[in-house]
Amino acid sequence: MEWMSREIYEQTVAQSREQRMAWWRQARFGMFVHFGLYSLLGRNEWAMALENFPRRDYEHLADRFHPEPEAPRAWARLAQAAGMKYMVLTTRHHDGFSLWDSEVNPYNSVNLGPKRDIVREFVEAAREFGLRVGFYSSLMDWHHPDGGRAAFDPDARARFTDYLHALNRELMTNYGKIDILWYDVARPMESFEGWNSLTMNQMVRSLQPDIIINNRSLLAEDFFTPEEQLTPSAGDWEACMTFNGISWGYVDSKQAAPYSYNAHQIVRMLQRVTAGGGNLLLNIGPDPKGAVPEEVDAPLQTVGRWLRENGQAVYGTKPPCAVHANGVTGSTSDGQQRVWVWTWIWPDQGEMVLGGFLNPVKAVRMAASGAPIAFEQVDHRLILKGLSPHSPDPHLGVSVFELVFDQPPQFRFASDCPPLHGGTDYTEDTI
Ligand code: GLC
Repeated sequence: MEWMSREIYEQTVAQSREQRMAWWRQARFGMFVHFGLYSLLGRNEWAMALENFPRRDYEHLADRFHPEPEAPRAWARLAQAAGMKYMVLTTRHHDGFSLWDSEVNPYNSVNLGPKRDIVREFVEAAREFGLRVGFYSSLMDWHHPDGGRAAFDPDARARFTDYLHALNRELMTNYGKIDILWYDVARPMESFEGWNSLTMNQMVRSLQPDIIINNRSLLAEDFFTPEEQLTPSAGDWEACMTFNGISWGYVDSKQAAPYSYNAHQIVRMLQRVTAGGGNLLLNIGPDPKGAVPEEVDAPLQTVGRWLRENGQAVYGTKPPCAVHANGVTGSTSDGQQRVWVWTWIWPDQGEMVLGGFLNPVKAVRMAASGAPIAFEQVDHRLILKGLSPHSPDPHLGVSVFELVFDQPPQFRFASDCPPLHGGTDYTEDTI
């Protein structure tokens, strides 16, 4: 294969980006799944490193790794119920254990533990529930003998990057159409040259021409990945968030308080992210059997019920950032003539005033029911009238107004999004 230079490669990839990203920009909401040997420990997916496990001792975890065959279908069923449109699975995390039938890496879930191809089960489940398929692929590897030596030994680096290329070639070849490749942690090398990312990603794209690749192989690629933060980036970006603010892998509630976001907090994340034209990749850390913890399942079911009635305010939304219409709402827009105003606190006086709209509003209605809302527009103040004494939303009390304009809305106030910044958003210290 004739490799392109970085300039030619980035120009080529940019030419197809609009078409490749269309479904992803519509989707806005995905499920991250962190599942592997570390799930058995119930503390954190970094346990092998943070607790200095000798490799041989950590490998024995595989003897106890027996996820239920139905587990991936349960993840996919929940993702669909939650209104998520794609899933990303840790096919191999930093501990180097492959969840698929790898010829390249014998340390895998077909040779050891369940003796099953979990990746194949995941792909089949995602497709059964109408979800797009994403593979997380760690660059860093604590198991491979060259994973660390690659930092200072050119021969080790060559062997290690060849190994990673071969792993990714398997993933891109053996499981049908793959929609997302989600790289993580470019350590120890700190440049795309160090990882041979330019040839690796050209190989990936030659096998999967429509694939979307994130920015963590240290080429800009298709989308930025702010982690545990809802900070918009220029271009396409996806905020990846744990469900508990402390661990991507399963947390055993007997070892740590199972703090989890509630449905209201998740909906607020969705508004914050989609107002800035981004996606939310919300993580679940299934237990050793692959079961979804109850403190995760319940809020996602509620979010899904809310999205079934209010999803137009999320799916396909675009910047410009919607205006900060008053202190008790957030908003999103379709980037054309519609603005959705999400009410965090419902007015009990039958009226709500939204400020900052410069041009005429044509119509106001409830997003969920379509019920028209009476309004008066006085200068820059939009007065919504005849409101019910309680929020109409039965799920979370978060009702959404849909404002329709004749022309693209002109906003007086600065948008409520932080200033956009370009460039790589992902830094090692976000780990
Ligand atoms: C960080 C963590 C890694 C996790 C990833 C998810 O890179 O090191 O464990 O998989 O975030 O974005």
